[in-house]
Formats: sequence, C-alpha cells, structure tokens
Amino acid sequence: MAPSVHPSSSPLFTSKADEKYANVKWDELGFALIPTDYMYVAKCKQGESFSTGEIVPYGDISISPCAGILNYGQGLFEGLKAYRTEDGRITLFRPDQNAIRMQTGADRLCMTPPSPEQFVEAVKQTVLANNKWVPPPGKGALYIRPLLIGTGAVLGVASAPEYTFLIYTSPVGNYHKASSGLNLKVDHNHRRAHFGGTGGVKSCTNYSPVVKSLIEAKSSGFSDVLFLDAATGKNIEEVSTCNIFILKGNIVSTPPTSGTILPGITRKSICELARDIGYEVQERDVSVDELLEAEEVFCTGTAVVIKAVETVTFHDKRVKYRTGEEAFSTKLHLILTNIQMGVVEDKKGWMMEI
Ligand code: COI
Repeated sequence: MAPSVHPSSSPLFTSKADEKYANVKWDELGFALIPTDYMYVAKCKQGESFSTGEIVPYGDISISPCAGILNYGQGLFEGLKAYRTEDGRITLFRPDQNAIRMQTGADRLCMTPPSPEQFVEAVKQTVLANNKWVPPPGKGALYIRPLLIGTGAVLGVASAPEYTFLIYTSPVGNYHKASSGLNLKVDHNHRRAHFGGTGGVKSCTNYSPVVKSLIEAKSSGFSDVLFLDAATGKNIEEVSTCNIFILKGNIVSTPPTSGTILPGITRKSICELARDIGYEVQERDVSVDELLEAEEVFCTGTAVVIKAVETVTFHDKRVKYRTGEEAFSTKLHLILTNIQMGVVEDKKGWMMEI
C-alpha cells in the first residue's frame, strides 16, 4: 500500500521528498516524540474483522467523549523498533512477537485484535512510509508504537462497539539519559500488578500508575523504580518500563511471566542468548535478598534495550553492582545489538527486512 497523501509539513522538521533523511539532529536523539509524516489507521466493529487500513498523515484523531479507551481505559499498546543497517536495509526486530502479544492482550481486555498478518503488514507499511525518519546506522532506531483502542461509545461498563488499530512512529535514541548504569529505588509503597490483574498484558492502564513512584524517585536522584510483588512484597517484579535480571556466578535469574509482569520480547531474546553462551537461565521468583546479593543486575526492554544497574537502594541499604566493559550485561548488549544492526549474521531469524 503506497502512502495515499504527501508528507505533512511539520514546523520543526522539514524534509523534501527526494531526501534520504528527515532533518533531525541524529546525535541528539533521546526518547521523546518527534512526529513523523504518516501513521496507519484501521477500524473495526466489535467481533468483525479490521478494515484494510490506510496510511494517512500523522495527526490528531477524533473520538467520542464516551469512547471505551477514554472512560474505562480499554486499550493496549505495543513497542518495537526499525533499524537501518550499514548496508542500507531497514529491518524490524521480531514484529511477529508483538503481534501475538497484542492478540493475548486483546483477549484479556475483550477487544477485537488485528490478525498477526495484518499487524506485521501494517507495521511494515508505516515504516516504509516514514523511512526518512529511520536514523542512520548506529544513531538510534525508529520506535514504532501500535495502539489498539476502544473508540466506540460505551456508557455502561462493557467492551466498546468499535476499535481502532493505529500505528505511529518516532525516531529515538537511549531511553535513560545516564550513560552509566541505573540507580534504582525499590518502591515499598506502591504495587504495579497483582495476580489476576492485567500486569501480564500491555494494557495502557499499567503505566500511568507508576508515574507517582517515578517522580518521587527521580526527585531524590534515582533513575528508575523497581516494583515488588503485590502478594508478599518480598520478590522483585518489574522496573517501571522494563524487565529485570540478576546474575550470580553462572546463573541468570529473572521473575517468571506468570501474569504480573510483562512478557518482554527483549527479555525472551536475552534468555535465549544467555543460554546460547553457556549461562543457566532461571525464570522464577527472585527475592529482594537475592537481588541485594547479586553480582550484576540489568534491565531489558524494547525502549531500554539492555541497561546495566549500578546501584539498588532498598530502605536505607544501597548495593553497588558490576557495570562497564567487564560486565555480562555489556557482553549481552553487544550480542543483541549486533544482531539488530545487521553487524552479524542473524542465525535466529529474528530480523525482518522490509
Ligand atoms: C517499550 O519498551 O517498548 C515500552 O513499552 C516501554 C514504554 C512504556 C516506554
């Protein structure tokens, strides 16, 4: 599907049709929205299939004040990235996994999802339409944000009668500003998810509740917040936007995806890559005590990629971990990003060229 319209003219970023790149300061990318030219939009009635969808100029959308997403938070989002390789290809990292995760989330929230095929095709078309916004090799990635939201009007609590599947993009660099490791604060006061809730799907409603903790932690100089399990308050679960791992000896451990943490695609890939290089990976409950005795701690996620944790503060105890050149997480970061950037052969079949 070719873009049906010409690029919108953005006051901040002008790009001529024949230019390879949009006019962005690629060396200054962080993780903040830089609107690109196009987005993808498809709609469907509850229980029916999605329309083919179209590429339209990026811009505001109009929905009923009574929409399911606005009133009852009926919505899911996804996050994945497109990369520009040294040899000029544009690739996606495991988009099929995001498509499947959206299906699982849609089932939990009683929404009608796009088929995995439509999801992947729509992502490809959106990236192709915005190809000037895919950063040069090594400068970052084009972050792709698919949304599935209840846009039909619903006054009583129920699933919405109409859904919108929308994809927009933004070039991004590092999620966390600090070039060194993260300083995490363990949150004792708030819980992110509980058994039977929606912590295991990428519901829009899972993220704004962490903001209060994040603001408090940042105001005390921390980079991010680590949440504990709601049932016992003794086990680690998830950082505000990413999964967490600990390393001790040859054993890499990470909380299990048993319904309260997000089944991250980077998390899953890291488990596989760590096993490939001879580490034992355990997906199991990890106590705060073990966290405090670990040699290394690191976070994984699409936005975060792999980020070493330098310190964890639990009450008045602050523990420092190995980071830097010698760290296991640095090695894993290189292995993963070499695959993503097309620097090494993708023996896993994870990259999809568009
Ligand atoms: C991602 O890593 O794609 C996420 O969803 C994190 C986001 C909340 C910034």
